[in-house]
Amino acid sequence: MLNEREAESCYLGQFIPLQYHHNMLMDQNRMENFKAAITRLVFEGAKVLELGGGTGVLSWFAAQAASKVYCVEFNPDMVAEARRLLAMNRHGEKVEVIHADAFEYLPPEPVDVVICEMIHVAMLREKQVEVIENFKQRYLAKFGGPLPVFIPEAVLMAVQPLQQTYDFSGYQAPIIQFQQPGVFSADTVELAQPALYSVIDFSQTNGMQIGWEGSFTIENAGTVSALRFVTKNVLAVVLENSSTIDWLNHYMALPLPEPIAVKAGDVLQVSFDYRAGGSIASLQHSLQVSLKTAAAARAGHLSLAYG
Ligand SMILES: C[S@@+](CC[C@H](N)C(=O)[O-])C[C@H]1O[C@@H](n2cnc3c(N)ncnc32)[C@H](O)[C@@H]1O
Repeated sequence: MLNEREAESCYLGQFIPLQYHHNMLMDQNRMENFKAAITRLVFEGAKVLELGGGTGVLSWFAAQAASKVYCVEFNPDMVAEARRLLAMNRHGEKVEVIHADAFEYLPPEPVDVVICEMIHVAMLREKQVEVIENFKQRYLAKFGGPLPVFIPEAVLMAVQPLQQTYDFSGYQAPIIQFQQPGVFSADTVELAQPALYSVIDFSQTNGMQIGWEGSFTIENAGTVSALRFVTKNVLAVVLENSSTIDWLNHYMALPLPEPIAVKAGDVLQVSFDYRAGGSIASLQHSLQVSLKTAAAARAGHLSLAYG
C-alpha cells in the first residue's frame, strides 16, 4: 500500500519504470553531455553524491575520477538494478548505492559535487528544484559551507509561440507534443523569437513558483495554436572559453484552447504561473494568451509617447 507521498510521486512521474531508463540510456544527447560535464567537474579523488541514481550511470561516470560516490535512489527495483549494473563496470565498486529518499538523505561526510537529474521540461513533474533546495538547507545545517558544485549548475527556460498542425492522418487532435530539438518539421512554424522566462541558478536560493508575464512581437502571419516550452540545462560552465556544456530537453508544445490568427507586428501577450514539480495541467490551466493587433500596439505606443 502506497503512502500519500509515494502515491503522488507515482502520479507525477517520480517512479520511472525500468523500461523507461533504457530510453534515458539511449538518449545520446543527454548521456554525452552529462558525461562531459561530470568528467570536467569531478576531479581526481573527489567525493560525489548523486540524488536519484536510477541505473547508476551518472554515478559511474563520476566514479572514474572520484574516490567515493554516494548514489541515492528510492525505487527499490532501481536500487537492485544499479547494484547489479555497477558490479559489471570498472570502478563501479566506488559507488555505494543507498536506498533512501533524496528529501531525507545526507551523506556521512561533505561532498564536492552533487549530481541530480530529476528533470522534466519546464521543471514540471519531477522534483529537481524542490529536492535541491531542500538538500542545500539540510547540508548547510549539518556541514556548514561551502556548498558542493551542482550538476546541472543552472537551468534556462524559454517560451515561443508556434503555428502547430494537429492533423494526424486526417484526424484533428490538438494535443501536447514533445519535439526533438533541431529537427525541422513542416507541421511547426515559429511565429516569434523565444523569450527567456526563468533562470534557476542552483548555487543560489530558488523559490518554487515559476511565473511570467510578457509579450511577443509576431514576425510571420499565421495562427498561434501552441506555445513551445524550451528547457536548457547548463550542466557545466567552461570558464576558459566562455562556453557551457548543455543538455537541451525535448521541446514541449502545449496547444492553446483557441487558436489565434495573427499578422506580422501583432503583439501576443502571454502569462502563466506554476509550481516547480507541478503537473503539466497546472501550467496549462494558468496559461493566459491574448492578442493586441499591430494597429492597437501602435496606438498604445503613441498614447504612451504623447499621453
Ligand atoms: C530521470 S531519472 C534519472 C536516473 C539516472 N540518474 C540517469 O540519469 O539515468 C530520476 C531518478 O530519480 C529517482 N527519484 C525520484 N525521486 C526520488 C527521491 N525522492 N529520492 C531518491 N530517488 C528519487 C527516480 O526513481 C529515478 O530513478
